[in-house]
Amino acid sequence: MSGAPVGIFDSGVGGLTVVREIQRQLPRESVVYFGDTARVPYGSKSPETVIRFSKELASFLLSKGVKMIVAACNTASSVSLPALEEFCPVPVIGVIEPGARAAAASTRNGIVGVIGTLGTISSGAYQNALRGIEGVKAVVAQPCPLLVPLVEEGWLDHEITTRVVEEYMKPLKSEGIDTLVLGCTHYPLLKPVFGRVLGPGVTLVDSAEAAAAAVARRLGEDVEGMPGERAPDYRFYVSDIPLKFQEIAQRFLGRSIPLVTQVELGEAR
Ligand code: DGL
Repeated sequence: MSGAPVGIFDSGVGGLTVVREIQRQLPRESVVYFGDTARVPYGSKSPETVIRFSKELASFLLSKGVKMIVAACNTASSVSLPALEEFCPVPVIGVIEPGARAAAASTRNGIVGVIGTLGTISSGAYQNALRGIEGVKAVVAQPCPLLVPLVEEGWLDHEITTRVVEEYMKPLKSEGIDTLVLGCTHYPLLKPVFGRVLGPGVTLVDSAEAAAAAVARRLGEDVEGMPGERAPDYRFYVSDIPLKFQEIAQRFLGRSIPLVTQVELGEAR
């Protein structure tokens, strides 16, 4: 199993922030990625639908012989982890627990903010995970549904994006957060904007970075890491190749995706 790839899924291209982190932290590991670009976004869908989609994507990854599954999508992680753990014969890693732990380790005043899609914040998954960890006194949660389209549009350094972030950050600032969990695949790309709006007193926790670190820990425990010096293999599958796909994917991965295979949704089940 050690030579098997790590399976990563997301509602679309956003999960490439997790692939990028795995590549940085675990450069020897091979990866199979599935982005459900035909059915994105998950952030506004019901938990039942997101759980059903997540199981379909996990089945596809299992058919590719993965040794573990990473639910890179925060929305999917927030509602489908128990169902995936029951359903998958390999370990399943979500982004919520690692992100919450990293935030708890970083906060000094115990007031932690968390932002995500409407689905992620409504699920209460981050809030519950954070409240269960010592050192966290209060959690301020804020859905930020306008940020995903702004990132996909490439408005990373646009005054409108700054205005939207300022508006969303108002309640978190007034509650005095000193740590903010970026609980969505797209938000790491807005780190400079959050940094400017919140100032240096607030630590930003990147859930993609925390999830890759959780994968690294797991590889040292019950899952074997890639042996030898073989070059890693990266495979990218999507359920649709939308307009501007490469441009958007490059923004998340930091490089273009040489080969991407479109899979019919029927085959992904
Ligand atoms: N990948 C989703 C997440 O991290 C954001 C995009 C979507 O709504 O599907 O929550």
